[in-house]
Amino acid sequence: MTPEHRLSQRLARLIGPETAGKIDTPRLTLRRPRMKDAADFFTYAQEEEVARYVLWDVHTHIGDSRRALRAILARARAQGAETYAICPKGTGHLIGTIGPVWLDWGNLACEVGFSMARPYWGRGLMTEALEAFLRYAFLDLGLNRVEGQYDLLNPASGRVMEKAGMISEGVLRQRLRYKGRYADVGLYALTRGAWLERGNNP
Ligand SMILES: CC(C)(COP(=O)(O)OP(=O)(O)OC[C@H]1O[C@@H](n2cnc3c(N)ncnc32)[C@H](O)[C@@H]1OP(=O)(O)O)[C@@H](O)C(=O)NCCC(=O)NCCS
Repeated sequence: MTPEHRLSQRLARLIGPETAGKIDTPRLTLRRPRMKDAADFFTYAQEEEVARYVLWDVHTHIGDSRRALRAILARARAQGAETYAICPKGTGHLIGTIGPVWLDWGNLACEVGFSMARPYWGRGLMTEALEAFLRYAFLDLGLNRVEGQYDLLNPASGRVMEKAGMISEGVLRQRLRYKGRYADVGLYALTRGAWLERGNNP
């Protein structure tokens, strides 16, 4: 992908319609979040179990969810890349989010972060969303490397990365200080070359 192509995609992200960048998977639609998703977001972000291993705190009021959505939208604009609302196909309801925690255009790399409402866990849905995000990152954004970090106390997150084809690069000891403790984190990553070698077609 040429720098011009990348620039035009970043501009489309800034000025494009709400439907820009919508992705359908067998069971999900990934779309741009909107402020009216706040109630759906609050429904799951108020659960301790969901927030235990993420960098944000549990939401105690719908205002927290509105603020978080505003921050997600601002970050997406600043990054020039989508953070997606994850919706069961045909419902329009936000049940999770997936997108870059950071994105480095110099090195064409990003770290992906994701979370999903408790009732939807254990059905392979986040793996489906992550596979779609990887395709978006490598083909639409033209990135070369996608990383993911997870707290070793939260092995389901590492398993999602593994199932989506990411490769373990080891453990970073006490890499994070959050929620009152230091956390050892597992690092997974995938390069565009390795993704293509796995039989994914451009
Ligand atoms: C982590 C999370 C995204 C997983 O989503 P999900 O849709 O349930 O994931 P999937 O169903 O695609 O896969 C989960 C895998 O983890 C496995 N798993 C679940 N709990 C596990 C545990 N305690 N130990 C080991 N593996 C576990 C499941 O068995 C499954 O693997 P399998 O298909 O081989 O059986 C979801 O639990 C979540 O949103 N958690 C809260 C937010 C969060 O922690 N985000 C990640 C921050 S890095």
